[in-house]
Amino acid sequence: MKTNEEFKQFFIDFLEVIERQILEIGYSYRQPKKLATAIKGLSDHFIGNEQRITPWNSKEFKAAYLAYYTPLNLWRLLHLYKTISEDIPWQNLDNVLDFGMGSGAASFALDYLLREKGISAQLNGLDQSDEALSCFKEISKSQLSQLKVSRLAEDFSNFTNVEFDFAIASYSLNELENIPEELYKSQCLLIVEPSSSEESRILMAMKEKLIDRGFRILAPCSHQTPCPMLTTKKLWCHARTPALPPSHLNKIEEHLPFKNRTLTYSYLFASRKNKAAPHETHYRVVSDPLREKGKTRWNICSDRGIETLSLLHRAQLDLDLNRGDLLELNRNSIEQKKTELRIKDLNSVSIVKKDS
Ligand SMILES: C[S@@+](CC[C@H](N)C(=O)[O-])C[C@H]1O[C@@H](n2cnc3c(N)ncnc32)[C@H](O)[C@@H]1O
Repeated sequence: MKTNEEFKQFFIDFLEVIERQILEIGYSYRQPKKLATAIKGLSDHFIGNEQRITPWNSKEFKAAYLAYYTPLNLWRLLHLYKTISEDIPWQNLDNVLDFGMGSGAASFALDYLLREKGISAQLNGLDQSDEALSCFKEISKSQLSQLKVSRLAEDFSNFTNVEFDFAIASYSLNELENIPEELYKSQCLLIVEPSSSEESRILMAMKEKLIDRGFRILAPCSHQTPCPMLTTKKLWCHARTPALPPSHLNKIEEHLPFKNRTLTYSYLFASRKNKAAPHETHYRVVSDPLREKGKTRWNICSDRGIETLSLLHRAQLDLDLNRGDLLELNRNSIEQKKTELRIKDLNSVSIVKKDS
C-alpha cells in the first residue's frame, strides 16, 4: 500500500493558505458547491479549449485553479520528487526554473522537500500570465523558506545568461507546440503532464528527442531505448500517487462528477550530467496490480519491452507490487509462459525501490 502520511499535514496546512487567497475573490472551502461549479467550468474549458488559452483572467477559473488544481498538482509533485529523490542532484541545485509555474505548485512542493534536507536554492519562475505570478507571490509569502526567488518573468528574455541546474515544467508543456529551447540547456529536466492516453503519448515520444539533445532519461524509464508503449494502442505510461488525505476537497467532490482519491500523472526526468545508468538492468512496474481469477498480473517495462509478470494465487506468496516500483528479476528462476513471466518463488524478484 502506498502511504500519504509523510506529506499529509503540509497538504492540509497548504489548503488553509489557499483559503485566504480565494476568500479575497469571493470563494471559500466553506462553500463547496460554489467552488464545484467553478471547477466543473474550468474542467470543461480545459477539455474544450483547442487553443489552450490559460484561464487566469477569469475570477471563477482562478478560484477553481487555486482551490482545486493547485493542491492536486502539489500532491502529485510531492510524490514525484520523492520517487526520483535519489537522482535529484540536491547538493548542486543552485538555480531552479519553474516553467509555466502558474500559482507555483511545483515550487511549493520542492520547497517542502528542500526544507527536510536543509538545502537552499535560487528560484526562477516563468509564466506568461501576470495574474498567475501574482497568485504565486501571495502564496509564497508564507510557503517558501528554502527557495529564494531570484527572478519572476513572463518570458525567457529576462533569463539570458542564467544556467539552470534543475528545470521543471509541470502541466505547462501541453499548452505549447514545442519544448522551449532554454529547457534543453538545463542540467536536469523534469516534465510532468496529464495522464491521458494522448498527452502521455506525446510525452513518451519526447524521450527520444531529449536523448538526441544529450540527456539521459533517469525515470520512469530504466533504459534509453524508445518507449515500447508507443508500439501499442492499449498502454501509456503514467504514475499514481498515494491517496489524498481527507480534506476540504472531499466536500467539493460531493458536487462534482469526478472524484480524485489517488492522482495519476505522466512524467519524464532527464539529466545531462548523469552518464552512469544505474537502472539499466531494472524493470519498472507500469500498471496497477491486475487481479483476475487465480492470479495477479503486472505490466513491467525494461529494454526488453513490455512484459507481464504474474503470480498464481495458489502459490500463496506474499508480494506487494505497485505501479512505479523498480524491480530486479532473476530470470533464470522465473518460468516463462508465452509472454508471461510467472514468479515461482520470492527470491526471483527483488524490489530495488518501492514507490511509496
Ligand atoms: C496548467 S497551468 C500549470 C501551472 C503549474 N505549473 C502547476 O503545476 O499547477 C499551465 C501554466 O503554463 C503557463 N504557460 C503556458 N504557456 C506558456 C508559455 N509559452 N510561457 C510561459 N508560461 C506559459 C500558463 O499561463 C499556465 O499558468
